[in-house]
Amino acid sequence: MKFKRLSALLLCLLFVGSMVGVVAHETSRPAGPPMLANQPQPDFKMRRERLMAALPDGIVVAQGGVEESLGVSDKFFQTENFFYLTGVEIPGAFLILNPFGGPGAKSILFLPRRNPMTERWTGPQIGPGDDALKLFGVDKTLPSTDFQATLAEICPTEAVKKGRKIYLVEAGEASPVLRDRNFVEQIRKSVPDVAFGDARPNINELRRIKTDGEIALLQKAIDITGEAQRDVRGVIGAGRYEYELEGLILGAFYRNGAERVGFPCIVGSGFNATTLHYNKNRKRIDAGDMVVVDIGAQYSGYTADITRTYPASGKFTARQREIYQLVLDAQEAAAKSFKPGVSKMSDLNFTARDFMKASPLRAGNNLTLDNFFLHGLGHFIGLNVHDVGDYGSPLPVGSVITIEPGIYIPEENIGVRIEDDYLVTEKGLVKLSRNIAFLPDDIERLMAEGKKGR
Ligand code: GLY
Repeated sequence: MKFKRLSALLLCLLFVGSMVGVVAHETSRPAGPPMLANQPQPDFKMRRERLMAALPDGIVVAQGGVEESLGVSDKFFQTENFFYLTGVEIPGAFLILNPFGGPGAKSILFLPRRNPMTERWTGPQIGPGDDALKLFGVDKTLPSTDFQATLAEICPTEAVKKGRKIYLVEAGEASPVLRDRNFVEQIRKSVPDVAFGDARPNINELRRIKTDGEIALLQKAIDITGEAQRDVRGVIGAGRYEYELEGLILGAFYRNGAERVGFPCIVGSGFNATTLHYNKNRKRIDAGDMVVVDIGAQYSGYTADITRTYPASGKFTARQREIYQLVLDAQEAAAKSFKPGVSKMSDLNFTARDFMKASPLRAGNNLTLDNFFLHGLGHFIGLNVHDVGDYGSPLPVGSVITIEPGIYIPEENIGVRIEDDYLVTEKGLVKLSRNIAFLPDDIERLMAEGKKGR
């Protein structure tokens, strides 16, 4: 009898462990709190609590993403803010954060009831109930179909009259996304006359400072992206096609555990290297081309963004090298100029531009090369490759940014961009991608070594 119970328990644990959204990312199972997509569950709880504390005059409601094609046309990935607040990777979920709910009733997660037919298509799922409660660390779980009725219960007319708002985590009525607008309509049916608030600035505030867990995931995404850069630099050469390189990059991403690209791979050779977001990747690479490889693996939801530029022939021409070196020096000047608690992204941008302007190098109509630096110096990374963040304020400790100067001279068929990812710390910037070769001599040597090995 005892044995039977034990086997039943083991079977049950195995089953829960195999459910969608539970182990999708886990590489190991350390003792301690449950891990959700490789982050500790308490981190998600902390975010919910901080959000409620920041919005004391209302409740937060969120709808997760849906899977409409049963996995046929795309994989399901959770929407960013819903994921950030819950760690839930199950389609069709909702969340209510109700600071007025009292102990044990503040966070309610709504999950679709389990459906054996759907599960035959997309695998075992976790539904509302004790398992979900333990796994996600919320106060209560209910079926998704109860969302509207529960909302109506939580927001009685008196509360609405007193001015209690409903805060949305995505754009509401003004959203270009039909689903967001429909969600507002759905809420209005449950709670007529309620005023809506926007929780996004508060979530953004939280999201831009990464926890140690998030930084570790970004580091992993960066390391995987470095593996892909290593693989491509060994095969770049005249006669290869840009898409071949893309194939190698995707192979390196998946082989090393990435779940997808953080953005479409940019592999631009020759003139294409001068097109900032070129991602057709169809051209045959010619001798003498520069090849911009701007790529980012996504790991457990977090996206790296690393660019390297390679000479197709394996050796920089004198002109290519001087431009490459200027881009690299401008990047280093910007990173070195960073002052903790003071520097803004815009300050670093000006530093890099001034550095290029001061160079004796010229192009076009005798123009200084800052004229050929066409985009911003960098952006925040995180759950999105262009993650939330404030470009006009001092960069906060715990944010992760890119620094990516570039010079693009179409008349000379030369485009060079060098992009690295940096963690902002109290002491300065830490280059998380420092192990991915960037010095011109190293690039030439490693390209030669990579070719020899094939
Ligand atoms: N590296 C791609 C982007 O920043 O959009």
